[in-house]
Amino acid sequence: MCGIAAYLGQRLAVEILMDALRRLEYRGYDSAGIATLEHEKIHCCRAVGTISVLQRKLTDSPIPGSMGIGHTRWATHGSVTELNTHPHFSMNGKFAIVHNGVVENFASIREFLSLQGYVFYSDTDTEALVNLMAYHYAKEPANATKDRFLESVRKSLLHVRGTYGIAVVCQERPREIIGARNSSPLVLGIGKGELFLSSDVASFTAHTRDAVFLNDNELVHIKNDSFAITTLDREEVEAVRQQVDWDTVAAELNGYPHFMLKEIFEQPQALENALRGRIENETATAHFGGLQMTTDELRSINRIIFCACGTAWCACLVAEYLIERFARIPVEVEYASEFRYRNAPLDPKTLVIVISQSGETVDTLAAMREAQRRGTRVLAITNSVGSTIAREANGGIYQHSGPEIGVASTKAFTSQLCIVALLALHLGRLRDLSEAEGMEIIGAFKQLPSQAKSILDQSAHIQTIAARYQNCSDMIFLGRQSMFPVALEGALKLKEISYIHAEGYPAAEMKHGPIALVAPQCPVFCLACGEENIFEKTLSNMQEVRARGARTIVVAREDSPIGATDDVIWIPPAHAVTSSILATIPVQLFAYHMGVLRGCNVDKPRHLAKSVTVE
Ligand code: F6R
Repeated sequence: MCGIAAYLGQRLAVEILMDALRRLEYRGYDSAGIATLEHEKIHCCRAVGTISVLQRKLTDSPIPGSMGIGHTRWATHGSVTELNTHPHFSMNGKFAIVHNGVVENFASIREFLSLQGYVFYSDTDTEALVNLMAYHYAKEPANATKDRFLESVRKSLLHVRGTYGIAVVCQERPREIIGARNSSPLVLGIGKGELFLSSDVASFTAHTRDAVFLNDNELVHIKNDSFAITTLDREEVEAVRQQVDWDTVAAELNGYPHFMLKEIFEQPQALENALRGRIENETATAHFGGLQMTTDELRSINRIIFCACGTAWCACLVAEYLIERFARIPVEVEYASEFRYRNAPLDPKTLVIVISQSGETVDTLAAMREAQRRGTRVLAITNSVGSTIAREANGGIYQHSGPEIGVASTKAFTSQLCIVALLALHLGRLRDLSEAEGMEIIGAFKQLPSQAKSILDQSAHIQTIAARYQNCSDMIFLGRQSMFPVALEGALKLKEISYIHAEGYPAAEMKHGPIALVAPQCPVFCLACGEENIFEKTLSNMQEVRARGARTIVVAREDSPIGATDDVIWIPPAHAVTSSILATIPVQLFAYHMGVLRGCNVDKPRHLAKSVTVE
């Protein structure tokens, strides 16, 4: 978590860095800070709270300089105080650092340095790291063949167990910045006479689209307007420059009150992007450019393990229903954080697929690496071109959803559902799925964007419903078959956006315990729009909770006979392959309106960050 940025050029560094931090704020927003360097003097400003608090402080006391580093924090070590806010300094004030990640062995580094007389002012792991750099710098002999600044950073990082994306400045090197990464993203932006470092390319695409994505264990040494990349083992690395097509304009609110609402409304477009160029009418199938697997290899797969976290994990559950149903391949779904430490049996006919919007979630990345270490091929479904997961996967599928800024995933989720549905079609057609069934599914995809749009048109209706439930203390989401993951996702969205306790259950499971929670202040949201064969059974489960005093909201296909309910949201009739996508939109809008009605910060819910780069 946390976002880091650095700038070296001719312009006022604070302006560039503040703009970068605003764009990185989704990665953490409990405190922020900037340090600039001018005439061998480091200037610093830090503030607890959002970037706007830091901006007010900087307006009152501006800091000069055309190079500097910045940080927006999601606390890991140490509470949210100004002392724990980055940048952190070495005790002698010579080094300043911003850090995204966790130095797991910071306690032993700190103990070692304390014995050398170092004093610490914060509770952070980062302060141990920056002092270690100062320690090595002091010890490093002045040597014509090795750069003392670079060597002190390199030697310190060789001691570190854990994860980092860092940017460091040294008072005695006024036109230099060193960046490095291990499991936390870091990308270099190359402008005209200026260089940028950031956790996310979106923070500098307004200035340049020329980028170099660093790999783990690489350092970049920026000097004036040139840079050199080396590994921790001092090997030179040839920089691979990429043109980023990320649209910064897409990262603006464009008249919407919140990014979450904007992104919910962008879903018809995101679905079109996910489908574009991937449907083959002639052969009634879908195809993907980047799987890097032959047809024979795909046919030989006899088991798929999906791994992800959070909302992306819910997308994996939908994949299980669709791929088993249409391609008849057994699917297992794992939390990446569990899979990475579990000795799951893997064999050459097993395919692992990871799903990650950011492409940087540390547990998903580690699960992928673990499967690869054991010789298993891993495909990735991700929205982030150039992300670590995208680069390290053996093949993959890009979502093309555009930047998702709201911390709660919305358009990325439905786009993931669309891609796993396309994958089910592709794998199904390589096996027994008939051409007629393939054409039926393609027909469903063609209607999808306009059907999604028609549900968005009901936003005001859903807001009115939300107003009736805004004071509830708990909520239960029910669904069966492919609607069960949507129920889980609905509960997750409501929890994170409105802070209402919510649970998702397979509807028939209620009788096995959770029905004891049912009461008027615990309404039930019922997704009765999935597979036809369980429609009536889902409704019976809804009537069971109504009989015990629950108020109910039901999502159902237009004109279906739903019986008694307090509220209803109709969605267009859809094929099983797309109905989970359509059913998601009402739960997203419901969570959004509940959050807003309850006065919550829906784009930046408390305690959360968009990209989870710590375990
Ligand atoms: C919830 C949410 C998170 C993410 C999870 C994985 O709204 O956004 O649960 O889905 O942190 O993130 P990615 O997909 O970036 O790996």
